[in-house]
Formats: sequence, C-alpha cells, structure tokens
Amino acid sequence: MKILAIETSCDETAISIIESKGKIKSPKFTILSNIVSSQVAIHKEFGGVVPNLAEREHQKSLVPILMTALKQAKLFKKKRHALKKEDSTLRNILSREQELLKRMKEVFPLEVPLIDRIAVTHGPGLEPALWVGINFAKALSYLWNIPIVPMNHMEGHIFTALIKEDGKNAKKFSIEKIRFPIVALLVSGGHTEIVLMKNIGKYTIIGETIDDAAGEAFDKVAKMLNLGYPGGPAISKLADSGDASAIPFPRPMIKKNSYDFSFSGLKTAVLYYLRDHTSYKKRDVAASFQQAVVDVLTAKTMRALKAHKAKILALGGGVAANALLRKTLQDALPRRVKLLLPKISLTGDNALMIAVASYFKKKPTPAKMITARGNAKISD
Ligand code: KG4
Ligand code: ZN
Repeated sequence: MKILAIETSCDETAISIIESKGKIKSPKFTILSNIVSSQVAIHKEFGGVVPNLAEREHQKSLVPILMTALKQAKLFKKKRHALKKEDSTLRNILSREQELLKRMKEVFPLEVPLIDRIAVTHGPGLEPALWVGINFAKALSYLWNIPIVPMNHMEGHIFTALIKEDGKNAKKFSIEKIRFPIVALLVSGGHTEIVLMKNIGKYTIIGETIDDAAGEAFDKVAKMLNLGYPGGPAISKLADSGDASAIPFPRPMIKKNSYDFSFSGLKTAVLYYLRDHTSYKKRDVAASFQQAVVDVLTAKTMRALKAHKAKILALGGGVAANALLRKTLQDALPRRVKLLLPKISLTGDNALMIAVASYFKKKPTPAKMITARGNAKISD
C-alpha cells in the first residue's frame, strides 16, 4: 500500500509518501518522500504563528512540495493536457483557496499515481491552516479518485515514538513491538497531554493542560528573554550553561492528584522575577524555568505510568526534542517500563507521522464529511 500524507495544521507545510509491505499487522515501511517546509522565518517577526499568513503560505507551498514528493517517490507521471477551465467541481472544492487553485491548474492533470490513500490532518490545529490541507486532499481525491483518511495530529505525534528504524537503511522502518497499555506524553506548542493508549486507535486523555501548553510556555519565556521564536530550542541551548537550581520557580500542580498541568503561573513567575531583579543571568533563568517544566511533566507522567500499569512510555510533540526532558524521563522510569523516544528530526510537525498513523485506519471517510476541527481530541 502506498500512502500520501498531507499536514498543514500549523506553520509547517508537509507531505510524505510511504509504502508498506509484508504482513498487515507487522508491516515494513519505506519512506519514498518526506518533505517539511517550515514557515518559521515568516512568523518569526510576529513572535508567533499568524493563522492567515500560515494559510497563505500553505496555499503557495503545497503544489511545489507535491511535485517534488512525487518525483522523489518516482510516482511522477507526465502532464497530459491542460486542465479543463470549466471544471466546476474543482473550482468548488477550492473556492476559498484561489492561490492553491491557480497553482494546481499550472501542473494538473497529472496521470494518476499509484497511491492507495490520501491521509490528511483534520485537527487539532489552526482551522484556516487545516482547511488548506483538507481541501487540497479533496481536490487530489477528486482528480485522482483516491480515498481520504482524515487524521488526528496528536495521534501522529504518538507514532513518531513507535517508529523503529532499520539500522542499515534510514529510509526503512517498522513499528516497535507494542505492549499495551501505553502512556503517551504529548508536548507541543499547542498541546500538553497524557494519553492512555489501550490499543491502536483507542485513546483516553487522562490529563492535559488547563491553560498554556508546555511549548507555549517555552515560547513565551523565550520572548521575555529576547531569545526569538520558536523559543524551545533557544531556551534549552542557553540552559545548558545555566544553573537549574539558581531560581526556585514554582512547579504548578505537581502535588495535585490529577494528571492535569498548568504552565501559565510558571510563566508569570518568570515575568515577575525578571521585573523584580535588575540583574540576573539569562542562562540561570532559562535553566531554572526548563527544570521546573521538566519536573512537573516527569512527576505527572511517572504517576500515570504506575497508576495504569503501563508497559511503555511514548514521548511525542515538538518539546520531545528537549534533551533534559528525554534524560529526566529515562532516569525516572520505573523498572519494566520501556521508554520510546522519537528521532529528533521527527519531533516537530511532519507528514510522515500522519502517513504511518493512517496505515492503521481501516476505512476512508467520504470527502464531503471531512471538515477542519481545530479542537479535535485524540479521544474523539
Ligand atoms: O509539535 P510542534 O512542532 O508544533 C505543534 O504542534 O505545536 O511543537 C512546537 C513546539 C514549540 O513551542 C517549540 O518551542 C517547542 O515545540 N520546542 C521545544 C524544543 N524544540 C521545540 N521546546 C523545548 N525544548 C526544545 N528543544
Ligand atoms: Zn504538532
């Protein structure tokens, strides 16, 4: 089976094509293409992602990325003739994506590539951004007559941890031997949640942030320290040379008996600290803040692992790139629990994770039923 996946939930435009072979339950995958085009440079000057700019950039980038992906996957077939101008169905599908329509008309129709399904992120994320990917998927589905499988973005992040690379060939991988239940700690710019996974496709959110996401806190504190956007990588780099015990920032809700998080108070504590101290070492602030976030994430996750007798801890999301978090989780892990960490290059948003997760979905969804769901939950 060949899968084409599209991911446009935030500020990365991503397309991946994978091929699966072998047994249905223990497939071997080959990455035929995996392209991520980041818009960070565009959003940087605004200090965060601007939804309308993201929407516009996705419209501009999707067609050239698709063409490159098809070529890399050797699925590119020649353009045959000009797209009929009167194709009103296509015009309807892309009525709100005029820029994307224009770019599609420049290259389509292409001969139908040998692809079995199109996977597309339908949420959670920024709705204007999600819609571009969804309508692109619908347009391709219409032109090529290939079914669509709508995917949850957070489920994709879980699968980055479940990928087991073939030691010899970086393009080949399988899925880790999974023993349930799995507890997944998902930490990104928009979400922070602990998910109990009883099987593939069976998810319960047992804890989540009641205000800011962990990545969001990193981004906001980085802004206060003038470290630019996105803040996570900048803070963790600076923290390397700082003293994590220099400032006793609060560990919000660490003692509370729920698996929920709160990071907005911590962010405010940093703000007050900077306001009330005329001289401070940025690196100590970064290190102490990072330690506070990691301590809370680790404490709650360990409690969840024990309470649910988890066999595996899977880490996912942009903040999964954080070296201190990776190490602290490993050090705190109960015996007999296996920690699965994603490859650093797959921690940020990408379409490969959407492709892999979609392999396990049985049925496609009729295009008409697919909508952007900004607040979609992994448990839906
Ligand atoms: O999953 P992701 O790429 O996008 C969303 O779906 O939100 O996550 C992006 C978030 C940003 O907030 C970024 O600052 C954070 O991940 N991040 C990090 C690190 N690298 C990225 N946070 C802490 N340490 C890092 N090394
Ligand atoms: Zn994400």
